[in-house]
Amino acid sequence: MNTFTYKYPVTVYFGEKAAEKNLQSELAKVGNTVMLAYGGGSVKKNGIYDELVSILKIVGKTIVEFTGIMSNPTYNKVQEGAKLARENNVDFILAVGGGSVIDCCKIVSAQAKLDEDIWELEYTNHGVPTQFIPMGAVVTAFGTGAEMNNGAVITNEDKMMKSPLWGAFYNFAILDPEYTMTMPMKQVISGSFDTLIHCMETYFGTPRENNLSDDINFSVMRSVIKNMCATLKDPTDKYARSELIWAAAMAENGILKLGKVTDFQCHMLEHQLGAYTDCNHGQGLAVIHPVLYRHIYKEAPEQFARMAVEVWGISPDGKTTDDLALAGINALAEFIKEVGLPTTFAQMNISTDTNFKAIAESTIRTGGCCKKITTDELYEILMECC
Ligand code: NZQ
Ligand code: ZN
Repeated sequence: MNTFTYKYPVTVYFGEKAAEKNLQSELAKVGNTVMLAYGGGSVKKNGIYDELVSILKIVGKTIVEFTGIMSNPTYNKVQEGAKLARENNVDFILAVGGGSVIDCCKIVSAQAKLDEDIWELEYTNHGVPTQFIPMGAVVTAFGTGAEMNNGAVITNEDKMMKSPLWGAFYNFAILDPEYTMTMPMKQVISGSFDTLIHCMETYFGTPRENNLSDDINFSVMRSVIKNMCATLKDPTDKYARSELIWAAAMAENGILKLGKVTDFQCHMLEHQLGAYTDCNHGQGLAVIHPVLYRHIYKEAPEQFARMAVEVWGISPDGKTTDDLALAGINALAEFIKEVGLPTTFAQMNISTDTNFKAIAESTIRTGGCCKKITTDELYEILMECC
């Protein structure tokens, strides 16, 4: 493995009644004015909003509401939140939702303390923010693991870019499986698939030889696959769901990435697809991944073959390394069908008129899994997904 330093700043409260048990003591550590941030209203329907507001009132906080954070949060929404935070001298942000709310608040927390435009700071001046409004996350939709890292994916509509921005880590994250029981099944599956792909894009980095981070990663992938099937079979299975919540966090808390350079090329491509189509993140990944892997597996067949055996349980007997590698990709494609995820852009209602050329050209190209992929190849991959 490569050399690394590991330090982890987020306190995780996992399990039943995690908010009721821990939120008061966490809120006692922060200032009086709390921004309560959430999405389009699911928290009001399922009672989470009332529960959290009553805890905020018990500890005597002044509440400033920041609402309507959309899926694939926009840069304009970030600016709206930052303005609200500044105008109300917000001391603390409580983000309640899935990856979209949690990401949006990471950048609100930084932008509220900055005079400079944060996009300019990070992309033009290559700086990073250094001051933040502290935050806590209450996870109501799992999968992204956004509560565990300090990166946020924000759609800049003017620039037609859905790109990572760096913000702060959360002080704490509350992961109560009960809070996620009302998630639509479509979101449970697309979110969990996102977790699986975070594992894969981490695995398909370097170094390529067997290492402990990858061995832990295989366990997380097997667990996600097993518990996605269990949840589909019985949506009320809280145990399976709690495993999925923790798997999502494990994929993004840095453990699987220790000593590795990760890939995340597919994510970069899917994010740009999102900039142009506002599509669901996990679904976009489901369509692109098998296609992208078929394009590149011959560059690192041993690594693909190892995943076929360790994750999909495929016997290596009588197979060449290339056969085995391809069998693993086919198993991934089969699984995508089995869990009801889309396999083409058409199934996601993404029009063939979409400007795929512009998407390919604006995609951030990573060091790449196996090889640095060209813009032309990204375009070919997108066309094969239609
Ligand atoms: O807005 P509301 O009404 O709350 O509804 C949401 C939303 O429609 C709903 N929902 C959430 N909790 C619910 C619930 N509905 C019923 N009951 C509940 N308990 O779920 C819908 C989707 O929520 P969203 O937050 O958009 O989904 P997700 O968690 O998949 O987040 C997606 C965003 O995260 C980014 C994606 O690109 C996308 O923008 N990502 C962030 C990452 C990170 N920071 O590490 C990594 C990922 O790779 C990803 O890129
Ligand atoms: Zn993702």
